[in-house]
Amino acid sequence: MTTTTEAAAPTRAVGSAHARVEGRAKVTGAARYAGEISFADLAHGWLVLSSVARGRVRRVEDAPVLEMPGVLAVLHHGNAPRVDTDYVGMLGRPNPVLGLFQHDRVPFAGWPVALVVAETSEQAREAAEALVVRYDEEPHDVAFDAGRADAYTPRNNPMMPAETEKGDVEALLGDSAVVVDEEYTTPEEHHHPMEPHAATAHWDGGRLDVVDSNQGSTWVAGELAKLFSLDPARVRVRSEHVGGAFGSKGVGPHQVAAVMATTMLNRPVRVVLTRRQMFSLVGYRSPTAQRVRLGADADGRLRAFDHQALNLSSTVHEFIESSAVLGRVMYDADAHHTLHRLVRLDVPTPSWMRAPGEAPGSFALESALDELAEKCGIDPIALRVRNEPVTGPVSGLPFSSRNLLACFEEGARRFGWADRDPRPGVRREGRWRLGTGTAAATYPSGVGPSTAAVTAETDGTFTVRINAADIGTGARTAMVLVAAEVLKAAPDRIRVRIGDSDLGPAMIAGGSMGTRSWAWAVTLAAEELVKRLALGGGIPPEGITTRSDTAEAVGSLTKKERHSFGAQFAEVAVDVTTGEVRVRRLLGIFAAGTIVNPLTARSQFIGGMTWGLSMALHEEAVRDRASGVHVGADLAGYHFATHADVPLIEADWVDDPVPDDPVGMKGIGEIGVVGVAAAIANAVWHATGVRHRHLPIRPDRILIAS
Ligand code: MOS
Repeated sequence: MTTTTEAAAPTRAVGSAHARVEGRAKVTGAARYAGEISFADLAHGWLVLSSVARGRVRRVEDAPVLEMPGVLAVLHHGNAPRVDTDYVGMLGRPNPVLGLFQHDRVPFAGWPVALVVAETSEQAREAAEALVVRYDEEPHDVAFDAGRADAYTPRNNPMMPAETEKGDVEALLGDSAVVVDEEYTTPEEHHHPMEPHAATAHWDGGRLDVVDSNQGSTWVAGELAKLFSLDPARVRVRSEHVGGAFGSKGVGPHQVAAVMATTMLNRPVRVVLTRRQMFSLVGYRSPTAQRVRLGADADGRLRAFDHQALNLSSTVHEFIESSAVLGRVMYDADAHHTLHRLVRLDVPTPSWMRAPGEAPGSFALESALDELAEKCGIDPIALRVRNEPVTGPVSGLPFSSRNLLACFEEGARRFGWADRDPRPGVRREGRWRLGTGTAAATYPSGVGPSTAAVTAETDGTFTVRINAADIGTGARTAMVLVAAEVLKAAPDRIRVRIGDSDLGPAMIAGGSMGTRSWAWAVTLAAEELVKRLALGGGIPPEGITTRSDTAEAVGSLTKKERHSFGAQFAEVAVDVTTGEVRVRRLLGIFAAGTIVNPLTARSQFIGGMTWGLSMALHEEAVRDRASGVHVGADLAGYHFATHADVPLIEADWVDDPVPDDPVGMKGIGEIGVVGVAAAIANAVWHATGVRHRHLPIRPDRILIAS
């Protein structure tokens, strides 16, 4: 099997390893993040969050705080500017969560009830901590569990169809030689980029200018324009460097608060979130309770497939953690059913968190597949080969390319899978029991319309302008390589400007769609420029600029099942007397279209896989039922994998051409995490003979099960 790394011709820009173009600026500190950029006359806002989980704000006792040193204002529901939250936002529905200080209701603990603005950040914080807010508290309910009687199916949610159904699942389950029927749970998990959310807003000659850290400044600018009823041309959002995002950096309370305060005070105002505040303000992954039922022939061929997933949302907004969507892509059966259900609680609204849906969904589904393989007495990879669908199990559409089996083949070869003894609990090494496990991965390959401009400068260099967001992925560098490829120019002759809504509309860095969407627009503009330059003639002082808009091309792409695929492999060592689980090896092999920059792509995969390890063994946010607030809402109390937990992780890929796609790229931002927790749980079973169906696989769970 040839990997694209080996196959890449050195003369090509796309596919050759290239260090981040802004790497030097980042490691020397020259790169400025949103919370560090200087402004004259800057004031600082500090959010005050509700300490109760449900009720009403009776009184904000702002008078004593207004006397404190440096304090300029206290915004709350009694005095804040009105905003319009009735527009349809990113989730396809109005989002009342952005209606900051618009009413006295408190829907969850950690809801913003005031913003204290002061001359310095320290003064703002001291005053915010001194501010007394009186509440009329009401009984709250934050208890999530599989047996909730008030769970419902979110029909007509614009995010996705909650349910798909074909054939008679119950009948075929009853008729199957082998049946797996199990429940799996995953806990509440949080995505906390190293750089906390930060926004500075100011009015600049009649235009609102917001310096922010986000996944798409076109998106944030558009939402702010609608919220504050402004002409979109009067709103500019910039986001040059972003220290991680993972789905958490869209439009949120901090930008809204900063815009309100700058409008009231007529000077620049910065609002930065604390780590603790992020636990309630930037979204998180809902806990899930999932039931998977598989019915198969004795040889493992699926006849009945059923995946039902329950998640929570706030009382304010309906968010579906789409855990059951995997089956719509991965496995076919004569009878096939997928269903999402929801329960609404007095908690913050969950949000997209790296591989939303697929991450927790793959834990349940890929664990169940392993259980089916065990019951049928066949190899887990052979089971997947046997159930490889020809077309989309639900849509019936052809796949644009589906190289899942090539991933398993290459992964099995490199991992040494053929030598595996299928019996659990046989390998020992001192106090350790050893096991290996595998799981499949997939994530949709989407694309969104984007615009780009490419300029040939008089000095022989090129400038690419596209409102991409580099959230740490290496997007800026990828665009350099994409442009270099088309222009047949050395990468160091290409400069890329991103992260500014004034550059024109472009897709967000989200849903693993950024690189493919932006590359398409940059390619079209650069191709146009090559044609123009071929006509000859000199370059005028302002350069020659060509532009592209992919809206039409993207819209006319043939409807197919378009996804990245992957195979995850894990080896674990388990000490059943201490409950300790050590992951010794992780290997992920992916089929994700053209890999633009092997250096940063590998880093993306490894990052996702590390997260999967963390999800399998460590991560779990705990909410106290009595108070409705988190226990240990910080990166000490929220346990996640550290260096000592992370072994050698290898990630690589197979050739994956997408013939009908003009850029041939898929997406790699999210698929790395998909399937890892299942591969580890399956390896723990192989080591110990015990199935772990509840994440994280903590030492106490190992001990109790042994
Ligand atoms: Mo990703 S969770 O769609 O930013």
